[in-house]
Amino acid sequence: MGRIDYVVSGGGRLRGELRVPGDKSISHRAVMLGALAEGRTVVEGLLEGEDVLCTVAAFRAMGVAIEGPVGRRIEIAGAGREGLRAPGRPLDMGNSGTAMRLMAGILCAQPFDTELVGDESLSRRPMRRVAEPLAQMGAVIETAEGGRPPLRIRGGRRLRGIHYEMPVASAQVKSALLLAGLYAEGETAVTEPAPTRDHTERMLRAFGYDVATAGRTVSLRGGGRLQGTALRVPADISSAAFFLVGASIAPDSDVLLREVGVNPTRIGILNILRAMGARIEMLNERMMGGEPVADLRVRSSALRGIRIPEDEVPLAIDEMPAILVAAAFAEGETVLSGAAELRVKESDRIAVMAEGLAALGVRVQERPDGMIVRGGRVRGGTVGSHGDHRIAMSFAMAGLRADGPITVLDCRNVNTSFPGFAELARRAGLPIEVVEAKG
Ligand code: S3P
Repeated sequence: MGRIDYVVSGGGRLRGELRVPGDKSISHRAVMLGALAEGRTVVEGLLEGEDVLCTVAAFRAMGVAIEGPVGRRIEIAGAGREGLRAPGRPLDMGNSGTAMRLMAGILCAQPFDTELVGDESLSRRPMRRVAEPLAQMGAVIETAEGGRPPLRIRGGRRLRGIHYEMPVASAQVKSALLLAGLYAEGETAVTEPAPTRDHTERMLRAFGYDVATAGRTVSLRGGGRLQGTALRVPADISSAAFFLVGASIAPDSDVLLREVGVNPTRIGILNILRAMGARIEMLNERMMGGEPVADLRVRSSALRGIRIPEDEVPLAIDEMPAILVAAAFAEGETVLSGAAELRVKESDRIAVMAEGLAALGVRVQERPDGMIVRGGRVRGGTVGSHGDHRIAMSFAMAGLRADGPITVLDCRNVNTSFPGFAELARRAGLPIEVVEAKG
């Protein structure tokens, strides 16, 4: 498949009511738990992005009957905890770190061997963070050099529960251990250094599984059953993030984002943008399948630079590229620190954002664990997304207020998390063209 680029002609405003696609983290978990549950699970509002489709394909390859997704709806005939079959081929997790790490937790407890592979970006990402604690539980997982994928996972191992103190604040590591813990003897407990997204805990409970949370420690006992259920996935706050930033920076904007997941472990973007002076209202708060949702109204505002509180960083980790674009248009300096994890995402998001902002004439200073952005004028220019979906969408929004057109290269991976982004954004007012690159 050829490369596609975004060309944003510069200027514009965002207006109207929109619903961005379903939450990626929650969609992965819904498919996984639905596959391991007893009975049928119906999921509405599923993200039909490539990352989630990889998870669906993996369970199909292991014999789980899944209908859809059609119109964001999927029906899973749960195979039960012991019902998966050997896939007979490596399972391709595409671009998705979440899929690979969470699947490692499930697969290390199966009676058969498996291999997990991924695309070029995923093949560079660190997997020891899950392989090591899972090995402490009794799993046998072989990584490639440097702890990278592919993962070769040996079946037929008996797992035992451990109490693990996570060195990094990672929901993926926590979730991998909890999923392995479903199969382990005794209790599996995970203590996190700082709060991370708790979708796995919430969804396990929605499937009728007992999970205890005490302070920063989550625990469960192996051997229980998951009961199939009906779920509706909230709109992804990580996808809403681009519109929150776009409508804040573009004059005369007013957008209502419907049914957005506002789980307290995900709302760092709201706290940070508000601290920068953004006008965001949370309306009509309600619960949906164990997750809080709200409609978010965002209007143009004059942003000012801030020192981003380090305790907000894990709660806004995926939104940082968008926040850094907001910082480029803010008055004064924005300081990001304590964010070294950004270097091991779909791209090195510190290096790639610093490079892209500099290409638009923004003064940035890169640091090992963050950067300083001096806000003000942003020129048009060409920015490389390095195949990173969130970088691509963040820079597309910068076009709303840059002095000239912005071209963002290599945007195909937007399909991993936000199929239809360009069309939805154009309808809201972003002057964006999708261009097939030649050669
Ligand atoms: C995710 C956790 C985060 C986040 C990722 C999704 C999840 O990763 O960046 O996009 O669904 O658990 P880490 O656990 O590596 O912080």
